[in-house]
Amino acid sequence: DWNMPGYIEEAVQKIREQVGDEEVILGLSGGVDSSVAAALIHRAIGDQLTCVFVDHGLLRLNEGKLVMEMFAGRLHAKVVHVDATEQFMGHLKGVTDPEQKRKIIGREFVEVFQAEAKKLPNAKWLAQGTIYPDVIESGGAKSKKAHTIKSHHNVGGLPETLGLKLLEPLRDLFKDEVRELGVALGLPHDMVYRHPFPGPGLGVRILGEVKQEYADLLRRADAIFIDELRAADWYDKTSQAFAVFLPVKSVGVMGDGRTYEYVVALRAVQTQDFMTAHWAELPHSLLGKVSNRIINEVRGINRVVYDISGKPPATIEWE
Ligand code: XMP
Repeated sequence: DWNMPGYIEEAVQKIREQVGDEEVILGLSGGVDSSVAAALIHRAIGDQLTCVFVDHGLLRLNEGKLVMEMFAGRLHAKVVHVDATEQFMGHLKGVTDPEQKRKIIGREFVEVFQAEAKKLPNAKWLAQGTIYPDVIESGGAKSKKAHTIKSHHNVGGLPETLGLKLLEPLRDLFKDEVRELGVALGLPHDMVYRHPFPGPGLGVRILGEVKQEYADLLRRADAIFIDELRAADWYDKTSQAFAVFLPVKSVGVMGDGRTYEYVVALRAVQTQDFMTAHWAELPHSLLGKVSNRIINEVRGINRVVYDISGKPPATIEWE
């Protein structure tokens, strides 16, 4: 039970004292933590903060537009929008191994961010949306790391090589507190109560080689799924939901003709900690509607399947 206006006032003061008149740079991903950190720091120091939003071409539909509208448009924060799609796609060409894809996306992200940071020579601070659970995890990570099945490259994780001081105003907060803070700072409910999205984005939701064409199809299918979940009031009852692109073609029929197109899998899970998860028992009518819409609206996809695997033995993501 905390006093939110008092908390914000205190946090703002603390950031001002720490930073003084120096400049701060922050990697904005569109996720909850970096968004709330950006809103809080912007409240404290305004234009001394520059947010860098790197679009690796593997984001959800309209993500770039929404982030820019919110932070540059509504909050009047300084935001640099870097469209690095071609660079990422170029390096991912021909790569099919999931871990290799993660490594490349993580590495290129750091590279792009570093290049942007160089353009802001006055920046002395790197702000990050590190929250309390992240702090605990990296503290006691040794034994846990050995059991890591996937290297979780969160593109928010930037190296010390930038030579910047770290500003982490959310370090003491749990996720639900971060969300409350975000709402109190004026961020929209939908942005603050969003499902988690992996750093490598659609890169690990397109099985095998990542291609622009696949990403474009997947983005549209995924947006339809999320729209319909929200409309049916199922979004908040699931912990994570998304579409996965399967680069296999199957035969379908449309009108008098035969189609031979790609498959999309829908995944929706319920979980407390993301270590184990149940597949969500979505109503068949909802699944049917999503399937119909995807097949009718996304030319290139003629089959939709629903993933009914639990974690373990399956993982939440397909890669
Ligand atoms: P899995 O697939 O391992 O996912 O059951 C558990 C949670 O972690 C997320 N995830 C990632 N997040 N970078 C991230 O930032 C990654 O490489 C990555 N891989 C999985 C996944 O979305 C789920 O929330």
